[in-house]
Amino acid sequence: MNPVRVSTGIAGLDKMLNGGLIGGRVYLVKGSPGTGKTTLAMHFAMEGVKNGEDVLYITLEEPAENIREDFGRMGFDVRNPSFVLLDATPTVEKYVLVEDFFETYAKSLEKLTSAIVERFREIRYSRIIVDPITMLKVAANTEMDYRKSFLTFVKSMMKLKATVLITSELEKTDIEEYLVNGVIELKRMEVNGRLMRTVRITKFRGSGFDPFVRTFEITDRGMVINTDEEVGGLE
Ligand SMILES: Nc1ncnc2c1ncn2[C@@H]1O[C@H](COP(=O)(O)OP(=O)(O)OP(=O)(O)O)[C@@H](O)[C@H]1O
Ligand SMILES: [Mg+2]
Repeated sequence: MNPVRVSTGIAGLDKMLNGGLIGGRVYLVKGSPGTGKTTLAMHFAMEGVKNGEDVLYITLEEPAENIREDFGRMGFDVRNPSFVLLDATPTVEKYVLVEDFFETYAKSLEKLTSAIVERFREIRYSRIIVDPITMLKVAANTEMDYRKSFLTFVKSMMKLKATVLITSELEKTDIEEYLVNGVIELKRMEVNGRLMRTVRITKFRGSGFDPFVRTFEITDRGMVINTDEEVGGLE
């Protein structure tokens, strides 16, 4: 039986994934700052909302209000009640907040894991986004602590049967890459003085995928991938 495919909300990316992500698993989107991770994650979130699913988006670096503003302008339904956007950024003024999500979600990966599991008792989210996970890695006491808690995170998320997308800005993401079910890599480069954005799939358990590096653009309507033009394959 073919696995159930979950659309990323980006037609070109679904095509690269041979039809979409395999549901109920954990995926990593990696790329340096400004490569388009949040944009990709928002497409994935909004595709869920469009299908009437409950979506949980935890933002750890970019304030929720900025996300609403920027992606609302791109035509995303950011105020839909099925879209739960939790601001776990450290810069949020505590006085204004009734609930401090930073304390609950961003202190450590263990805390984040149990907070998500706890939330599931009320709502069964089918898509969860953690953007980015980088802060939690930096916050961990030791590399070993982080490895253990990352493994627990992945196992816990798989049990929830939600499709989970995490983003990371770090160049070195070894443990995450081993443990997740798929990796999408975004890059920015300069070609003849012009900014070029590329996307490639480097790992996708249980599925074939497009082996080519593809170029994409970020437009007023979000991410658009050029799937008919090849840049190169995996090195
Ligand atoms: N309407 C638009 N047209 C063209 N480019 C845009 C548009 N809106 C945003 N961008 C570009 O999209 C990029 C931001 O993408 P995004 O926030 O998804 O990246 P990111 O990888 O999440 O970055 P960070 O690591 O800083 O969080 C910026 O480089 C921005 O210039
Ligand atoms: Mg971002």
